[in-house]
Amino acid sequence: VHLTEQEIKCVNAMWSKVDCKTLGGDALVRLLVVNPWTQRHFSTFGNLGSADAICHNAKVQAHGEKVLRSIGEALKHLDKLKAHFAKLSQYHSENLHVDPANFDRFGQMVCIGMACHFHAEFTPEVQACFEKVFHAVADALGKGYH
Ligand code: HEM
Repeated sequence: VHLTEQEIKCVNAMWSKVDCKTLGGDALVRLLVVNPWTQRHFSTFGNLGSADAICHNAKVQAHGEKVLRSIGEALKHLDKLKAHFAKLSQYHSENLHVDPANFDRFGQMVCIGMACHFHAEFTPEVQACFEKVFHAVADALGKGYH
């Protein structure tokens, strides 16, 4: 995946306004509610018994924030995403056994959160840039799978 100078600018401009705590928590909640089978990875997080419980689960919120901060860090290394995520990819593959399709799903959930939060500012151009960049992130995270 190659992002143009313009696309990188667009992504960085929007990302500087993103609150990782709110949007990260929100994205992981959505992932777990919309794709209930992903809950299997978070059995140590306590009550995931209903959408409301997931939404108010502090561990889910905190982990969502952690994941979004990790993505934010990766945005500073777009030229070498694969190397940047090499260890994390291996960890999700060999230790956590996360289906790599879920990396793309998580990106989708972040896009939904940004659309809800930024409204008109989340233009089709911005959406297209993030679709591309989250796909690149998911692709890099999937590289350690074999
Ligand atoms: C842990 C990043 C997606 C499941 C982590 C950690 C990071 C991270 C930074 C902490 C690693 C550490 O403690 O050293 C990411 C990124 C993702 C992503 C950037 C991009 C989409 C997912 C998805 C799932 C998942 C989709 C499951 C459906 C987990 C689990 C842990 C973890 C279960 C361990 C949690 C714990 O026990 O505290 N991830 N992750 N991750 N991730 Fe991901």
